[in-house]
Amino acid sequence: MSQLDFIHQFVAAEAQDAAQRVLLLLHGTGGDENQLLPLGRELDPRASYLSVRGNVSEDGMPRFFRRLAEGVFDEADVVRRARELGTFVTAAAAAYQFAVAQLVAVGYSNGANIAAGMLLLGLAAFPNAILFRGMVPLEPVETPRLNGTRVLVSSGDADPIIPSENSERLARLLQSGGAEVTLVRQSAGHSLVAADVELARKWLNQL
Ligand code: MLT
Repeated sequence: MSQLDFIHQFVAAEAQDAAQRVLLLLHGTGGDENQLLPLGRELDPRASYLSVRGNVSEDGMPRFFRRLAEGVFDEADVVRRARELGTFVTAAAAAYQFAVAQLVAVGYSNGANIAAGMLLLGLAAFPNAILFRGMVPLEPVETPRLNGTRVLVSSGDADPIIPSENSERLARLLQSGGAEVTLVRQSAGHSLVAADVELARKWLNQL
């Protein structure tokens, strides 16, 4: 596949400067490259946005990797797709002329899980990530090297899909590699609530 083969949108910020953030927007199951643009604009209206559509189809619903059942992932496919997305992100940085250091991954649900997979596999070009309703996408063979990486995990305390033990384990795995992790439990289910957005805006402002 050519390196820019993921369907995507790149929306450049009006005022360009080297310190500006580029939000890498990764949708949930059944979403697409349009789904998280409004969220991206709420989080940082001055950023550029690289919004990607997952290249796996589950009955026509785009995803970033295959699953065998709800919450049961095809781990070999997570590895393969994390590699593909890593290659794409690096190629997109060259094509759209930004530095990977400017990237903040913003993933929701399945999008958070592929971002978590990239972090755990050492395939994340992005130094910062916001994982909304993320869970452990695979058991890493080695402890990841994540010094200098900052991750916000925003989970829902009444999420019917993700037990709180799972998001806690995700936070611990990332921390074990040296990442600076903030785990916050919202009074919420799997859908995002205003408090997620507020929290993420504040977290971004402190980077
Ligand atoms: C989803 O519906 O997207 C799941 O909760 C998360 C996943 O399958 O990665």
